[in-house]
Amino acid sequence: MTVSAIRRIAICTGGGDAPGLNAVIRSVVIAATNRGWECYGIRDGFNGILFTERYADGGVFRLTREKVRDIGHLGGTMLGSTNKGNPLHFPTRMPDGTTREIDRSDEILEYFAKKEIDALVSVGGDGSLTIADALHKKGLRVVGVPKTIDNDLDKTMTTFGFDTAVAFATECLDRLHSTAESHQRVMVVEVMGRYAGWIALHSGIAGNAHAILMPEIPFDLDKVVNQIHARDADGRMYSVVVVAEGAAPKDGHTELVEPAEIGHAERLGGLGERVAKALQERTGKDTRVVVLGHLLRGGSPTAFDRLAAMRFGAAAVRGLDEGLSGVMVALAFPNVNYIALEEVAGRMKAVPMDSDTLQTARDLGICLGD
Ligand code: F6P
Repeated sequence: MTVSAIRRIAICTGGGDAPGLNAVIRSVVIAATNRGWECYGIRDGFNGILFTERYADGGVFRLTREKVRDIGHLGGTMLGSTNKGNPLHFPTRMPDGTTREIDRSDEILEYFAKKEIDALVSVGGDGSLTIADALHKKGLRVVGVPKTIDNDLDKTMTTFGFDTAVAFATECLDRLHSTAESHQRVMVVEVMGRYAGWIALHSGIAGNAHAILMPEIPFDLDKVVNQIHARDADGRMYSVVVVAEGAAPKDGHTELVEPAEIGHAERLGGLGERVAKALQERTGKDTRVVVLGHLLRGGSPTAFDRLAAMRFGAAAVRGLDEGLSGVMVALAFPNVNYIALEEVAGRMKAVPMDSDTLQTARDLGICLGD
């Protein structure tokens, strides 16, 4: 089958932001412009199309080389993002006052047809890539780009944003060691990551944590208490404990800030506080908690994330130029490759139990709560 030549593409960023999004945008715009294509940015996920009336510029605007000058090193996304606007399940107020999820994806296809935009580069996590897959199956030319600080997307060795989050968490752990030691305290550090422990494990090892609790290993707090006592007995009177927001005790449940509702997923958080309180009670040691939260999502991308983002953006444009659709750009060292979106959509990549990184933590004597 021959595919028609591209003249215009659009790009959108969806889900929680991650350092490197602006680098992808810049890379896509320059690679597309160099091919003579016009490029358009959709604001706030797909809201720029679903609510054009809310935006002074109509919600979709021309992205030129000028518009993306000097943005590659900046955090956030110049397009805006949302994790509440899934067009396949759009929360909509009904005349009877109830809220229901409506499929508004046809409006996106109609918009692309009306504006003669030939293809979409959709940058996002599992939610955005699932939407991209659905749009592709309805006939839109789409290439996805994997983004998330959580690193929980399948079929790519890593996502951009993850390295920056790990680097920052590690720096925080380095700083917390000295104050914990000065006061002979237990320092509990809660990190993001949803239902995967990548950020906790990588930053915990790099930042010399003494215990790491992660969703993949239901924990027994006694093991952490024993680790703290053993360190005390050895004259090392302080401990640093990294807690992934999605971790849960063996006989307990994940801590939530907010349950799932129509239009948004559940919000994790609060485990750090609970673990700190329990450790203080059970060890008798002064304990403090630090929640890194959204600090992990902000700031400039590391060189690794910038480069990955720019490679992903350029590869997305190359893929479209070669006639690909319904694929995600993935990192498969030393190169990037393309994976069918349906192989990625709705799948989560947890830390494998046979991972050597996990084994490294054990070999170093880090308590994993089991
Ligand atoms: O997926 C990225 C992430 O930062 C998770 O680690 C975290 O659980 C979630 O997003 C927080 O989302 P929100 O932006 O709704 O606070």
